[in-house]
Amino acid sequence: MQTLDPNVYFSLREGADVLEADRQGDKVLRLADGSMLKLFRRKRLLTSALWSPYAKRFADNCQTLQARDIECPRIRQVYRIPAIERDAVHYDPLPGSTLRQLLGADTSIDLRSRLGEFIARLHQNGIYFRSAHLGNVVLTPGNTLGLIDVADLKVYRKPLRKGLRLRNFKHMLRYRQDREWLLQDNQFLEHYLSHQKVCNERELRLALGI
Ligand SMILES: Nc1ncnc2c1ncn2[C@@H]1O[C@H](COP(=O)(O)OP(=O)(O)O)[C@@H](O)[C@H]1O
Ligand SMILES: [Mg+2]
Repeated sequence: MQTLDPNVYFSLREGADVLEADRQGDKVLRLADGSMLKLFRRKRLLTSALWSPYAKRFADNCQTLQARDIECPRIRQVYRIPAIERDAVHYDPLPGSTLRQLLGADTSIDLRSRLGEFIARLHQNGIYFRSAHLGNVVLTPGNTLGLIDVADLKVYRKPLRKGLRLRNFKHMLRYRQDREWLLQDNQFLEHYLSHQKVCNERELRLALGI
């Protein structure tokens, strides 16, 4: 982690667009050169963020995902910015649009079946993505799927066991809009099922509430 002094930070963010912010301040910036800077508040003492800051987790997770051929942002640097009490991860965005941005769009490929197959691949690769919702999955210009916002992810050496898989679907169904879209037809369910052998249809239907 590199310490960034305030002058360098303010020149870096000159001309940036604020993509996400809350009452505490900026959260995600698109810098003038098209790269992104995601800021994380330094948490109080005695949280796990002290041992492994979110910005560093984000960068480590990208490395793990890339090693498993799962597309995600390309990390440039991880910073500590004491002047604004933030850590930051600087990356090149994964080209494409999030599935949430595409919800109403008429795409030539069947996104629900792709997503079913993709989630099966993540699970097979031992990846438990807690922020698995449509705002964090990107369709790339090559018509493949990838992940953004990867700070909250756990990696196992073996394929995920059944309980974790089923629990992961709850994350995916958290938002009503996502749930309605995902369950519009059986494509997600069928493609997930046909790309793995751990869960059967009855278990998956139960987890999806259908
Ligand atoms: N291809 C992309 N790569 C990275 N971020 C993207 C991409 N497309 C859109 N974004 C936007 O960047 C912003 C940051 O996303 P994210 O890292 O998920 O942060 P958060 O969900 O914490 O606000 C969001 O507004 C997201 O929609
Ligand atoms: Mg997000």
